[in-house]
Amino acid sequence: MDNTWAVVTGGSSGLGVAFAERLAAEGADIWLAARSEDRMQEVAQRLEHNYGVATRISSVDLADAGARADFAAEVAEAGVSHLINNAGFAQLGDFAGSDPRRTTEMLELNVVALTELVHAVLPGMRRRGSGAIINVASTAAFQPTPSMTVYAASKAYVLRFSTGLWRELKGTGVRVIASCPGPTETGFWEAAGNDAVMKRRRTPEQVVDVTFEALHKDKPFVIDGAANRAMAFATRLAPIGFQTKIAQLITTH
Ligand SMILES: NC(=O)c1ccc[n+]([C@@H]2O[C@H](COP(=O)([O-])OP(=O)(O)OC[C@H]3O[C@@H](n4cnc5c(N)ncnc54)[C@H](OP(=O)(O)O)[C@@H]3O)[C@@H](O)[C@H]2O)c1
Repeated sequence: MDNTWAVVTGGSSGLGVAFAERLAAEGADIWLAARSEDRMQEVAQRLEHNYGVATRISSVDLADAGARADFAAEVAEAGVSHLINNAGFAQLGDFAGSDPRRTTEMLELNVVALTELVHAVLPGMRRRGSGAIINVASTAAFQPTPSMTVYAASKAYVLRFSTGLWRELKGTGVRVIASCPGPTETGFWEAAGNDAVMKRRRTPEQVVDVTFEALHKDKPFVIDGAANRAMAFATRLAPIGFQTKIAQLITTH
């Protein structure tokens, strides 16, 4: 109960591993959660070896309500110093042609699991008057994005949820931030169905650096990369027809 764990969902690859690495380097004990046990074992062993931290692994499908509830209960029981709500995926292609089951899974993971885990950690963080929650959103949160329509809507939720919560938690000692990466070099694009799109990518380490810098400044959200920042702010000012046209061009090239 006295342990303070940094819980990293999607801790088996990509951004999750980079977040875990950074937190371990700062001395946090790391609790990885994803479906791929073998990959998490490798990450955990490396972190223990390199940083002398304790690690814990939960092999859990966070899109599954029952498994998620059990995991959330474990997390609520433990002392959690950081929650990195990072697990998520996208599906490229038109909504009409998409698999309804995959769409539901995406919403369960990107939206419901993220929200339930915040519920799980907040009482403990509030009691201790300290803690940090990083919700991984996306630059897709800033405009409707045809060909990734549900994904972009799910990330708009993450951004709005996190920024509202940021205001509610002011003065409590608990920080929350929405991290909004643009295209980043991970397994994300292959999992989304096309690794050939959006090839100008940043590294997971860049995203993590920018996120922690903004978290320390108590910002409600941060966009990684100057070009991504310029794009996100410019599209907000453009008419919706233009916004969606540009977004569609980008997701299909
Ligand atoms: N890469 C980008 O360009 C980019 C841009 C903006 C935002 N993001 C966001 O960044 C976050 C991390 O993605 P990434 O880029 O690191 O991609 P990634 O390498 O594909 O990692 C996704 C992670 O989510 C986990 N995951 C997927 N489905 C899961 C499930 N049902 N239950 C539990 N864990 C699950 C995966 O682990 P298992 O497969 O082992 O379960 C994996 O660890 C996501 O929220 C994504 O939306 C990425």
